[in-house]
Amino acid sequence: MNPTELQHSLRECFPEADAIPEECRIHAPIHQRSILLNGQMQIWKGQTRPVFSPVRTRAADGTLTPVELGSFPVTGIEEADAAIEAACKAYDNGRGTWPAMSVAERIACVENFTNQLVTRRAEIVNLIMWEIGKSLADSQKEFDRTIDYIKATVAELKQLDNSNSRFQIVDGTIAQIRRSPLGIVLCLGPYNYPMNETFCTLIPALIMGNAVLFKPPRFGVLLYNPMLEAFRSAFPAGAINIVYGQGSVVVPHIMASGKVNVLALIGTSKVADGLKKAHPKTNRLRAVLGLEAKNAAIILPDADIELTVRECLAGSLSFNGQRCTALKMILVHQSIAEQFLRRFSDELAKLKMGMPWEKGVMITPLPEMGKVAYMNECIEDAVAKGAKVLNAGGGTSVETMFYPAVLFPVTEGMKLYREEQFGPVVPVAPFEDLEEALQYVITSDHGQQVSVFGKDPDLIARLVDPLVNQVGRVNINCQCQRSPDVFPFVGRKDSAEGTLSVHDALRSFSIRTMVAAKQTEATKKLLDEIVLGNKSNFLNTRFIL
Ligand code: G3H
Repeated sequence: MNPTELQHSLRECFPEADAIPEECRIHAPIHQRSILLNGQMQIWKGQTRPVFSPVRTRAADGTLTPVELGSFPVTGIEEADAAIEAACKAYDNGRGTWPAMSVAERIACVENFTNQLVTRRAEIVNLIMWEIGKSLADSQKEFDRTIDYIKATVAELKQLDNSNSRFQIVDGTIAQIRRSPLGIVLCLGPYNYPMNETFCTLIPALIMGNAVLFKPPRFGVLLYNPMLEAFRSAFPAGAINIVYGQGSVVVPHIMASGKVNVLALIGTSKVADGLKKAHPKTNRLRAVLGLEAKNAAIILPDADIELTVRECLAGSLSFNGQRCTALKMILVHQSIAEQFLRRFSDELAKLKMGMPWEKGVMITPLPEMGKVAYMNECIEDAVAKGAKVLNAGGGTSVETMFYPAVLFPVTEGMKLYREEQFGPVVPVAPFEDLEEALQYVITSDHGQQVSVFGKDPDLIARLVDPLVNQVGRVNINCQCQRSPDVFPFVGRKDSAEGTLSVHDALRSFSIRTMVAAKQTEATKKLLDEIVLGNKSNFLNTRFIL
């Protein structure tokens, strides 16, 4: 396809309004005015922000118009303060209904919430798709994966609590050790997984008894509208409060209150750094962070080319490269660079472009024009410094439809060498000596994951050993990814703080606390009375089934 034909095809990807399948349509814009604060839906009468989809509709003359999805409240400092107050009241120094509730009761609330959520699946999935341009299949996967994550969290908590449902006696001390909440958690999720990544911190934070302040991401706000009633009715007042508004104003203000005990952020290290510093008492702040990454693929001379191309294509371009785990740099041994690049470009040309609801679609609209501009900036910078766009039409765009570009050779000093592009541009660099590839990872500011492609056990082992001390996961002959969610999801350097997984998240949002006494007859009698009389939610030997 020549550039003019490609431009034409990209434009044609946008549908005429009546060509949108009936079951996927947004029949009327959603003008959300409710704010969940202190267990009540407050009606917002102030400023609002319109929400437009990355999808455009095409008029008969070819004009493209962004689809209006609705609007949401732009709340400010006053509402942020009200949310902090509501959360503090609900937590009440650990004496509130929510933190003092038994684990079994908290689980029941989360299960009630989940059941309500499931009834709104179609609506939520549709909004994920329209708000961020994620394919319907991936939006459905995001929803289902989140429900599975919640269920796995409940199962893990039952196991955790049951194993703590006993007394231990050591050196004459009787103790019961359980995990207790930390206080107020501020949850901030990313736009690329607006539901899943948010819930991966929000649900563990809630279920451990913390009170939560939650701000939806920049794109992916309206999808929370169908969940508001479930949040309101499933949890006690103030256990969860939602803030909207300008993130750069509202969020630092919340941090500066000093009331936040845990910052749970999936975002960038720059933002995380600024927010931590805004807290007046940093020693009281715990941070659970999933930050940027620049995961590399290292392709060895004996790599299975077909498998490598398949994995690198999915790894670098699924959801248009907008995954924190995406392969964002490909290092290929020079002996097979030409073969790899040819096959990679051939397969890229077969990827289906289109609207998110189309079956098998891979290249969909980007969420904002700013992203298109940044992709162009990265390409121009690389080309000016000596790289070439290798695939035909790479980098062509029409509004939000951006055709992926493969850049080669990408070298130190180009933006694409170190910056996390988070989009459909694939930088490739050749290497001659294994040490060069290793040095790329060692000198990177990021340390999330790496993928190694090859067959020689000696060579793979020689790479694995140094790489495990650089990143959190080394993938052999497969792309980088987070799942399965029970596995630890970590990052070194500027890529993360703390570990996320079903198991670890429960621990990240709680602290081990114990009640201890000397092993005397009087103590035993006292503890017996408390336990047998079912007088405490902490001191008990109940088993949750
Ligand atoms: O954006 C980061 C996601 O957690 C990546 O998850 O590797 O399963 O797509 P994934």
